[in-house]
Amino acid sequence: MGYKGFTAEIKKMCNIDLSNYKEKQMKRRIESLIRRNGHDSYDSYLKLLKRSKQHLKEFLDCITINVSEFYRNPAQWQVLEREIIPELLKHKKRLKVWSSACSTGEEPYSLAMLFDKMMLKNKAEIIASDIDREAIEKAKQGVYTEKGIANVPKAMVNTYFFQENDKYIIKNQIKNMVNFRILNLLEDNYPSDCDLILCRNVMIYFTEDTKEKLYKKFYDALSDKGVFFVGNTEQIIMPHKYGFTNLKNFFYQKIIE
Ligand SMILES: C[S@@+](CC[C@H](N)C(=O)[O-])C[C@H]1O[C@@H](n2cnc3c(N)ncnc32)[C@H](O)[C@@H]1O
Repeated sequence: MGYKGFTAEIKKMCNIDLSNYKEKQMKRRIESLIRRNGHDSYDSYLKLLKRSKQHLKEFLDCITINVSEFYRNPAQWQVLEREIIPELLKHKKRLKVWSSACSTGEEPYSLAMLFDKMMLKNKAEIIASDIDREAIEKAKQGVYTEKGIANVPKAMVNTYFFQENDKYIIKNQIKNMVNFRILNLLEDNYPSDCDLILCRNVMIYFTEDTKEKLYKKFYDALSDKGVFFVGNTEQIIMPHKYGFTNLKNFFYQKIIE
């Protein structure tokens, strides 16, 4: 069995369609994992995944790549705070915000802390989702390391976290602002009427065809004049093609027809 046969089996087993992900990168990552586990073929590795929950978990960790951090690319979060959120609030009293590949929670909690700091806590409904069940469980726990919170200003660390030994735990007042769920961007329905959608550092893994499909789904999920916030290496080449206008670097606004 080659890579294609392996991905077909994985789709059956876990409902994750790896054909949507860039093949070269994904293949390299999986083949290196196969070797690290002492196997030399997709067949024998697949058998291992079928009999060992622990190896299946390791495999899912390898393909989902949960690396995240609070206020990732801080300059863009400043634009969000100073320009995008105030602009959105000119049209709407309350914002529906969706962190669409939220990993272990750093991104939606960054949003929740920001809204609280801006005294806008009651003006934001925050939905956070990811394909990875385990990441969502970790997100709900809200326990982070010192390295993970490096971008959080000291005053915010003091206000929004409590410390237990070397761990920083997000306080309930922030946790309660976020509604977590499992959602596969490739298969599942999206929330509707979102005023702000964050889709950061996940599109890079998808093929061009898949990206096109997802941009359309995100467009449909946005409210009129809603804003789509992408990662640092994920600028949309021809935003108009998908019904977006480039509001600021990394921020796209839905054009109403
Ligand atoms: C690198 S993290 C990005 C986290 C955060 N958005 C950030 O920028 O720091 C990528 C996340 O995308 C998630 N992911 C991968 N494929 C997905 C899919 N098909 N649907 C939803 N989430 C997916 C992974 O589980 C992972 O948590």
